Order: sequence, then C-alpha cells, then structure tokens
Amino acid sequence: MKKILITGGAGFIGSHVVRLFVNKYPDYQIFNLDKLTYAGNLANLTDVESKRNYRFIKGDIVEGEFILKLFDEHQFDGVIHLAAESHVDRSISSPMEFIFTNIVGTVNLLNAAKAIWKDNTGNKLFYHVSTDEVYGSLGDEGFFTETTAYDPHSPYSASKASSDHLVRAYHDTFGLPVVISNCSNNYGGYQFPEKLIPLFIHNIKNNKPLPVYGKGENVRDWLYVEDHAHAIDVIFHQGRKGETYNIGGNNEWKNIDLIKVLCKVMDNKLGRESGTSEKLITFVKDRAGHDLRYAIDSTKLQKELGWKPSLQFEEGIEKTVDWYLNNQEWLDNVTSGDYQKYYEKQYKER
Ligand code: NAD
Ligand code: DAU
Repeated sequence: MKKILITGGAGFIGSHVVRLFVNKYPDYQIFNLDKLTYAGNLANLTDVESKRNYRFIKGDIVEGEFILKLFDEHQFDGVIHLAAESHVDRSISSPMEFIFTNIVGTVNLLNAAKAIWKDNTGNKLFYHVSTDEVYGSLGDEGFFTETTAYDPHSPYSASKASSDHLVRAYHDTFGLPVVISNCSNNYGGYQFPEKLIPLFIHNIKNNKPLPVYGKGENVRDWLYVEDHAHAIDVIFHQGRKGETYNIGGNNEWKNIDLIKVLCKVMDNKLGRESGTSEKLITFVKDRAGHDLRYAIDSTKLQKELGWKPSLQFEEGIEKTVDWYLNNQEWLDNVTSGDYQKYYEKQYKER
C-alpha cells in the first residue's frame, strides 16, 4: 500500500485532492496533514472521513522536529504539498505568517523527505503545488509559460516563488525527486468566502456591497477546482521528475465582467428581478501592487500528459453558485466567529 502525505488537505483545493485520491485509489493510504487555520475545515471532508484509507493528522508544517518524526514514523512514498497561507490581501496586511508557512514550512517538508528517503528515491515523489502569481503580471498580450521568469509582487506570491525555488534547489543540489505545478485561479465549492467568487456569492445573498478593487479591470484565468485536482492526479502519476507544469483554464475574465455574470446567475437562482444584484457593486480602493493580468499557457501539460479542463465556465459557475446556495450551513459555520470582524475591518480600510 502506497502512503501519500497530502498537506493542507482540509483547505479548498486540498480537500478536493484528498477526496479524489481517497476515492480513486483505495490501495493508497492518504494522510491529510493540516493545521486547521481559519481556512482549514474538516467539514470539507465529511464524506471521506470514515474511509479505511484516509487518516487526518492535525499539525503545523512550521514545526520541523514534528515533521521529521512524522516522516520517520510513516515512511511516506509521496508528498503532495498544498498547505499554505493563500490569500493575497492577508499577505499585504500581515506577511509574516506567509513567510513561516509558505517558506519555512516547505523547507521543513523538503528536509524531512531528504532525510528519510536518503538515496532510496526511486519511487518517491515530492509534489509542490504552486501558483501562476510567481510569474508576476502580464499586459494585454501573452501568456505565462513554464520558462517565464519569476517576478512576484505580493508577499504571498513572493513567498510561493521562494518555496518553488527551494523545491528546485533540493532537486538540483540533493537529487530530491520533485515536481512543481503552477496553477491559475480556482473556483468551486468549499472555498473560504474571502476570495472573490465565494465572497461575492455570500454578499449578494445577504444584500451586502460587492467591493470591486480599482476599476475591476484586472484579468484572471479561472479553472474549476475539480479540474485542478485531476491535473494534480495526472502530474503526480505521470509528470517527469524535476519538471514544472503550468495548469490553467484558458478562461480569462476581467473581474467586472465576471462579477456581472455572477450577479445575473444569482438574480436568476434567487428569483430576484434582473439587475438587482448588480446594484450592490461598489468600487473601492485598489489592492496594493495589484497584478493586472494572469494568463496561463498549459500546452506542455496538455500535450505531454493529455490533461485538459473539462468544464466550460458557464457550467462551472452555475455549479459553484448551486453549491454555496445548497450548503448554507457550511457557509454559516465559516462566516461565524472572527469572520465578521475581519470583514468589517477590511471594508473600512478600503
Ligand atoms: P486554502 O487557504 O483554502 O487552504 C490552505 C490549507 O493549508 C488550510 O487547510 C490550512 O489550514 C492549511 N495550512 C495553513 N498553514 C498551515 C501550516 N502551517 N501547517 C499545516 N497546514 C497549514 O488554500 P487553497 O486555495 O486551497 O490553496 C492550496 C494550495 O494551492 C496553496 O499552496 C496555494 O498557494 C495553491 N494555489 C491556490 C490557487 C487558488 O486559486 N486558490 C491557485 C493556484 C495555486
Ligand atoms: O492565480 C492564482 C491565485 O489566485 C492563487 O495563488 C491564490 O491563492 C488565490 O487567492 C488567487 O489569488 P487572487 O488574488 O487572484 O484571488 P482573489 O479571489 O483574492 O481575487 C481575484 C481578483 O478579484 C483579483 O484581481 C482581486 C479582485 N478582488 C478580490 C476580492 C477578494 C476584488 O475586486 N474584490 C474583492 O473583494
């Protein structure tokens, strides 16, 4: 039985990856290591928690000794590393947590893999999940490829860029078998409502303002989260060691256009008169250092490993809206406690 460690498995993307691996590979033992920060939630995994091949471990990747002991105890065959501080706005207001988790935490995992696997790395793999934000910002034209020079702007993207470099350094210097993927913006169920799409669904539902940063002209390339999880599966099993793969939806939207589509879908689902939700749009102070445009060229992944996105955006956004409307209890839980305080402060500052 293969033992796979998935870090950050109680988060948004991690929970989709855990679900896919637990269900698709009954002969793998899946260990989900997660600190359960505000973004981690075991309610994301109730459907797999009692499966024989799934085990949750609560722990912090910043604690190096704990991580080393864990690797020693379980002798993992593979690691899929998703644990991170992931929200750009939080990295602007308090960067240190991003340095600890995203950089120090990643190095702790690399050190543990290097120490425990030693030279016996034939079937082992350290898979580092990263972001397209490491490449910086595009103008109106062009795409990020795997050879685009790194140029991160936010503390979040700089911390992810740093972790990517360290993963490559452990490959080049110590021969650690690694693979990296850099993905565009994900959307779908179980995303904490601080990110654009779930936040705006939540606000529309509650007739609250929709804070659009700047003029809403920034462009993102959106990918349905289950398509990202499938790409991770394909890369984990077939990706070439030492390589990087870009993952994207080939689905660029200006924020304001996407928000208008979302408003329309919400009006429709909530039985509101057309145009009602759009009235909630409020232009606010721009995000500092706001990258103008991200766009991914995923030709390498598509040609080499045969992956492609399965969902059209229109279908994905409908499914996503339905998910949040049908999971009100989940939304109520994650928006209780400190959530209101955090948002009131965020909104005041803009
Ligand atoms: P998320 O914030 O939803 O989840 C992160 C998870 O990591 C949470 O469960 C949290 O509890 C856990 N975690 C945080 N600090 C930890 C620590 N010190 N020790 C152990 N666990 C810790 O994030 P997400 O959006 O699911 O992103 C997952 C990964 O994918 C991240 O590495 C992110 O950089 C990358 N990524 C995200 C996107 C996106 O659009 N969300 C796109 C590309 C890449
Ligand atoms: O590109 C991949 C990245 O996508 C991931 O690495 C990050 O973890 C993930 O958070 C996401 O980063 P973004 O900053 O692009 O996502 P966010 O949902 O925060 O914002 C999307 C766009 O919407 C961005 O241009 C900022 C804008 N925005 C966001 C929020 C939260 C608003 O206009 N208003 C908002 O309230």
